[in-house]
Amino acid sequence: MIENVSVIGLGKLGASMLAGMAHRGFNVIGVDISESAVRAVNEGRAPVQETGLEEMIHAHRDKVRATMSHEEAVLGSDISFVIVPTPSDSRGSFELQYARFAFELLGKALAKKDSYHVIVLTSTVLPGATRHGLLPVLEQASGKKCGKDFGLCYSPEFIALGSVIRDFLNPDFYLVGEFDKRSGDVLEEVNRGICMKEPVVRRMSIENAEVAKIALNSYVTMKISFANTLADLCERIPGGDVDVVSDAIGSDTRVGRKYLTGGLGFAGPCFPRDNVALGFLCGEVGADSLLLESNHEYNQSLAPRIAAKLAPMMRKGQTAAVLGLAYKPLSHVVEESQGVALAVAMSDAGMRVIGYDPLASEGARSAFRGGVLVAESIASALADAALVVVTTPDAAFRSLTAEDFLAGKESVTVVDCWRCLDAGVQNDPRIQYVPLGRCLDEDSSRAVLEELWAN
Ligand SMILES: NC(=O)c1ccc[n+]([C@@H]2O[C@H](COP(=O)([O-])OP(=O)(O)OC[C@H]3O[C@@H](n4cnc5c(N)ncnc54)[C@H](O)[C@@H]3O)[C@@H](O)[C@H]2O)c1
Repeated sequence: MIENVSVIGLGKLGASMLAGMAHRGFNVIGVDISESAVRAVNEGRAPVQETGLEEMIHAHRDKVRATMSHEEAVLGSDISFVIVPTPSDSRGSFELQYARFAFELLGKALAKKDSYHVIVLTSTVLPGATRHGLLPVLEQASGKKCGKDFGLCYSPEFIALGSVIRDFLNPDFYLVGEFDKRSGDVLEEVNRGICMKEPVVRRMSIENAEVAKIALNSYVTMKISFANTLADLCERIPGGDVDVVSDAIGSDTRVGRKYLTGGLGFAGPCFPRDNVALGFLCGEVGADSLLLESNHEYNQSLAPRIAAKLAPMMRKGQTAAVLGLAYKPLSHVVEESQGVALAVAMSDAGMRVIGYDPLASEGARSAFRGGVLVAESIASALADAALVVVTTPDAAFRSLTAEDFLAGKESVTVVDCWRCLDAGVQNDPRIQYVPLGRCLDEDSSRAVLEELWAN
């Protein structure tokens, strides 16, 4: 039975994997090239911000240790999970330089090990990268043969920032791309030890697993785009309400309700780039990338389109506030954030824009590079705002009252991208409440339909 595992890369995903595996009883050696990440783990602290991470590392200090030595990790464990960055390049592909460097160090360590060891790549890569981009590095540095002397798997995780530990311990399924049966058997055994319930394990070739990882994320982005298309349509249908429609069609088991809430586009560090990468790959191998490219283009078009919708609601010289700059509530991450994109698009459309986020103000400030102001508090963001856009259903925004939005003014326009604000705000006569995804103008949308069907 495998008891000793190692995690190479103690970032947003790796640190949570280390904590989760220790929680499930494994002895875990963490490796990072960052001295501060290693020190943090050894002092029982979280190297990155993530829900429950600090508490879990602290609680299992006797089961975890961190080092900067890949050799120590390989010699002290039976399986190593590699979870280093694979940043997007200018073509949309994923760069392998961090993974190559890690594989080289792991290969050198394998050269000194007599017993069988499995390397598992968890970082997101494109099809072919594991076998053709990384395995040769491992074999060359170790002087050993995969399948004979060591094993190799590609096994990505499907987690969301903010719930990484929970998602890691309770996945819908584990995806195991195996070089050979022996490698897959070892990983499946470890997965069974990690999972809080009886795990669903899907075993396949490395290449099919590489396709499946990126395809799943890309599929979800299409569902989001479809919901956004419905929202846009419902704004033009008398009495239209995207939530009513989504609730109905989401009840069909072929569709499902998850990720079917019309609002803003898909965002964050994974969805947009994974979709672009799948399109890139299709193009490179001669497969059709039209659907993927259209989806990306559509998603990119949302912020400017909403900014154009809002422009007529503002008079020259007035200020607009954007509440929500992180890519989702309770996050400090602004990568590909729709709130940031919308604030920039509104600023580009000539509006004076001030943004606010409970956690992401610092990141947003550097993303804006001065083009959009960032307020220190909700109250200061709302003080002069004639129009307020709420871009995430953050509890801090959902609990705002009509008086908060008015901030002493006679009237204010409030644009609710997720239809999440309090009924008192929605119904206050001093507030022009604009819920995206619901009919925005009953009379004109009725007139359009009347004309369409008159003959
Ligand atoms: N963050 C997510 O939501 C998420 C979700 C699914 C998949 N992924 C994938 O996981 C991978 C890692 O993502 P992340 O968000 O955890 O990255 P991250 O940047 O937060 O962390 C990566 C860590 O790896 C360390 N590192 C770099 N080279 C190393 C080496 N040679 N040896 C040891 N450590 C090294 C870095 O110092 C850093 O601490 C990426 O491929 C990403 O696409 C991330």
